Amino acid sequence: METNAIFSEYEKLKREIHYHNYRYHVLDNPVTSDFEFDRMLVELRQLEAEHPEWVTEDSPTQRSGAAPAEQFNKVSHPAPILSLANAFSEIDLRAWYERIAKVDERVNNADFVVEPKIDGLTLVLHYTKGIFTLGVTRGNGEVGEDITANIRTIRAVPLKIPVENSNLVAPDKLVVRAEAFITKKEFGKLNDQLLKDGEKTYQNPRNTAAGSLRQLDPGLVAARPLTILAYTVVTENPKHTQWETLEYLKALGFPVSDLATYYRNFDEVISQIGKWNALREEIPYEVDGIVIKINDLKLSESLGFVGKDPRGAIALKFPAQEVSTTLKDIRVNVGRTGVLTPYAILEPVKIGGVIVKQATLHNFDYISDKDIRVGDIVMIKRAGEVIPYVIGPILDQRKGTEQPYQPPQTCPVCHQKVENFAGEVAWYCVNSSCPAQLIRNLEHFVSRQAMDIEGVGIKIVEQLASERLVENMADIYQLTKEKLLTLEGFADKKAGNLLTSIANSKNRPLDRVINALGIRGIGEAASQELARRFEDLDALKKADVDQLMEIEGFGPNLAESIVDWFKVDKNIKLVDNLRSAGVWPVQAQRISNKPKTLSGKKFVVTGTLSEFTRDGIKEYITDYGGKVSDSVSAKTDYLVLGDNPGSKHGQALGLGIKIITETELRCLAEGNF
Ligand code: IVH
Repeated sequence: METNAIFSEYEKLKREIHYHNYRYHVLDNPVTSDFEFDRMLVELRQLEAEHPEWVTEDSPTQRSGAAPAEQFNKVSHPAPILSLANAFSEIDLRAWYERIAKVDERVNNADFVVEPKIDGLTLVLHYTKGIFTLGVTRGNGEVGEDITANIRTIRAVPLKIPVENSNLVAPDKLVVRAEAFITKKEFGKLNDQLLKDGEKTYQNPRNTAAGSLRQLDPGLVAARPLTILAYTVVTENPKHTQWETLEYLKALGFPVSDLATYYRNFDEVISQIGKWNALREEIPYEVDGIVIKINDLKLSESLGFVGKDPRGAIALKFPAQEVSTTLKDIRVNVGRTGVLTPYAILEPVKIGGVIVKQATLHNFDYISDKDIRVGDIVMIKRAGEVIPYVIGPILDQRKGTEQPYQPPQTCPVCHQKVENFAGEVAWYCVNSSCPAQLIRNLEHFVSRQAMDIEGVGIKIVEQLASERLVENMADIYQLTKEKLLTLEGFADKKAGNLLTSIANSKNRPLDRVINALGIRGIGEAASQELARRFEDLDALKKADVDQLMEIEGFGPNLAESIVDWFKVDKNIKLVDNLRSAGVWPVQAQRISNKPKTLSGKKFVVTGTLSEFTRDGIKEYITDYGGKVSDSVSAKTDYLVLGDNPGSKHGQALGLGIKIITETELRCLAEGNF
């Protein structure tokens, strides 16, 4: 290839990497695997090694992190938030030790601390006189993004240090580095729920944690099971060793890994590597290696850096849990909302001690973007207990007999035409009487967090649907002993018990019934919010998008999902049938005898309040006839301002909205001017 052509290839690759970097770091919505992205970077580095004259500041090789996302304010770190050099084997690790021992012979007598390398996201937490005042992402190591409001929702983050009963005194200023992540168990639970709700599942805990922290709405972050572990004091560390630092952090009230281990010398570290490898599967969160740190922080610091990597610590990476196997077939699952999800049938293969036969393929775009074909040798990744997923095909092992995949045009269960909605990647079976959907809907309807019909598991649900005893969820209340006795495995007693639990479920409260309806995106928490505001299903049916969007945490998607659900004839029939079956809970609404002085006025609240709790102020405003909304818009009349307000303050200023204090609110409501 002539130089010009190579140069344009180089430019193209750079643009691609920029694009993928943007998808991953800014949008938190990657369309490539880490594996492929790393491969592109290696290729770029190679081209740059051959043509150093091409390298400019904007090359992806010239920065260690993404530029901060625009929506959050930028914050300079008080000291560089460094990264770590990697070792991939014991040989690499020994080489590191020898290198640093040459730089400073005191290393020969050094002691060490080894910690798990958590596969999460760095957080930089600022405490002023013991109060959490600022939380920042790593960004490019020099400047990060202010995500204080989001971090505040993570319960493991202490809002005040030291903890109660500690004999430590709060330092004037303390900046701590921690890793934010989601445990394997919580991640599994989150995905199980999404799967049950017929929604798209998340790929892995790391991306989910990253995506959550980048949400502009802290309310959504709060719903994510994020947690942290702290491991470094960035500034004003009163301690001289890493081990003491961990103990200090722990004493202040930060979560610190209980796996961190002290070793007297380097030989001890080496002798324990096997133990760490064996431990990996048991660690309740994802780790991609261990970090080996010189215990003496002064010595460590004096060793200096190589680029952005300090010499005094190194990451020993675990071998990736990725293997290759043959993709035998692609099948499609139909979820509760009719969403079609492709999954891979694999030649069984062992990953990390577990035999894997199936793996998720996420969605149809993923298959075509990666050009995954039936018959391909594919890379599979299994990260901890997470559902394994297909990373992509190994192209140079193609024989030519592999079959490109065509997404089905009809539902694999009911064989009706499938549809795609604007702006969504998913394909849906929109046949409301598709047995697959009915089964998933029924399964959800009877589940513990919905109607809680004891004794009805998936097997009975399948029987009821396939024998057509239930065609609409409310039909469950029309079941009789005669009908049940026609089912295989049903005798008098079993049928009687089932009818009793069905009858018992009739008086579930409104939030359970709303949840049971299976409206897309409306789970337990959203149902509780709705039940607080609407007295029965009729009232909910009449709500419009604007009204629904006034509820905290409800954006246009959720609001439209509810309105659309009540437009479907079949759903109206379901509600009517529930009513005639006697399943009609009415939620008593708060009745206030206060004068309606705030009638017609819309309020938004931001910041920490001194006189009210969050719920308290909402009740107060509603009692006086006003409305509370979660987001500032041109329709907002007043912003009630507390301490440390969030971005709503700036938005209100921008829109010229009146800004009032809690006392001024009381004056407006109670008329004491
Ligand atoms: S120490 C100079 N300790 O791994 C201090 N890092 O590639 C450097 N990480 O960006 C960090 N667990 O986000 C350290 N116990 C641990 C860690 C840890 C996870 C992450 C950290 C960093 C990356 C380094």
